[in-house]
Order: sequence, then C-alpha cells, then structure tokens
Amino acid sequence: MTATDQTASPTGRAPLRLALYQPDIPQNTGTMIRMAACLGVAVDIVEPAAFDVSDRHFRRSGMDYLERAAVIRHASFAAFERWRREAGHRLILAETDGPTRHLDLAFAPGDIVMLGRESAGVAPEVYAAADAVVHVPMLAGLRSLNVAIAGALVLGEALRQIGGFPGPLRADDHERQDQSG
Ligand SMILES: C[S@@+](CC[C@H](N)C(=O)[O-])C[C@H]1O[C@@H](n2cnc3c(N)ncnc32)[C@H](O)[C@@H]1O
Repeated sequence: MTATDQTASPTGRAPLRLALYQPDIPQNTGTMIRMAACLGVAVDIVEPAAFDVSDRHFRRSGMDYLERAAVIRHASFAAFERWRREAGHRLILAETDGPTRHLDLAFAPGDIVMLGRESAGVAPEVYAAADAVVHVPMLAGLRSLNVAIAGALVLGEALRQIGGFPGPLRADDHERQDQSG
C-alpha cells in the first residue's frame, strides 16, 4: 500500500489508535479507516498490505474519509514496534483466542488496538509483544467476526471507558478522568 502519510489527527490528539496488521481485504480496510476518521482515532497500518491505495474497492469503501484519517504506515512489524516503544503506547491485540474479554480490560488513553489479517490473524511475535490480548465473546462453535466489526466493538468499548467519543465531555466523563489521574 502506498499512501500519503498524515500523522496529525484533524480532530487534535487521538484518544486511541487502531492498528491493522498486514490487511488483505481492501473493503475492510477502507471501512475501518472511515470509522477511525469519524471517531477521531488514528490508524497504523503494518505493511505489507495485500493491495495498493489505488485499489478501487479500498477507495470506494473509504471514500473521502481516507483523506480525513490520520494514518501512519509502518514498513514492518519490527518498525512498528520500534516506533510504538519509543512513543510509549500500549499494544492491545484483538484475537478470537485472547484470554481476556474486551469488556474486562481497563483501556487507557493512547492505547493501540490491533486487528489481525483476515486470512491468518497475526504472527506469534505479535501475540508475544502485546500488553494484552482481548476477545469479543461469541457463541460457541462460531469462528470469528468480520475484522471491521470486531474493531468497531473493541474500539467502542475502549472509547466508552475513557470518555473518548467525539463531542463535549459530560460530568461523569470528568469524574472518570480525574480518578485516572
Ligand atoms: C477473520 S479474523 C482472523 C481469523 C483467522 N483465520 C485466524 O484464525 O486467526 C480477522 C481478525 O478479526 C479480529 N477478530 C475477529 N473476531 C474476533 C473476536 N471475536 N474477538 C477479537 N478479535 C476478533 C482479530 O483481530 C482477527 O485477527
């Protein structure tokens, strides 16, 4: 994937980041970048992706939201890790076999929620590097959610917990932020 990098969120400092590990379905990636743009969440793409930004399915699903998202592309997982550790972000991996329910993790501002590739999830080194691995509970016997849907559910919970949805803060959001220091 080749794209113009944008490192500053149009809405100011991003409350959370969404990382896409070697995405291989352009429609899902466009959908997730659109979601991130709407929610003020920054995006990290860990290359290689299986398609180019000129891909018509990618552009169609992301539409003009692609230009509104703050996207950083990382050449490899090793490069992403160097950047992440330097920047001090926690890595929260979403995987079907994660030991923790996404509802039970205490998310924090600056967390990166990472999603695996549609065809194969993530490499073992990614699992090992994660600060936490969460799953979205599903009925027994069913394999997985669509990656964009999984991302929406995890990001939604994380933003709810930290009061990170766009819009004016409410009184209980202030209280929660005071308590977390
Ligand atoms: C279609 S799934 C990958 C399935 C892949 N065949 C595997 O076994 O790892 C693509 C990505 O969606 C996310 N995902 C899907 N369902 C999930 C769930 N119930 N909980 C957490 N993440 C999920 C994960 O990030 C996963 O890597």
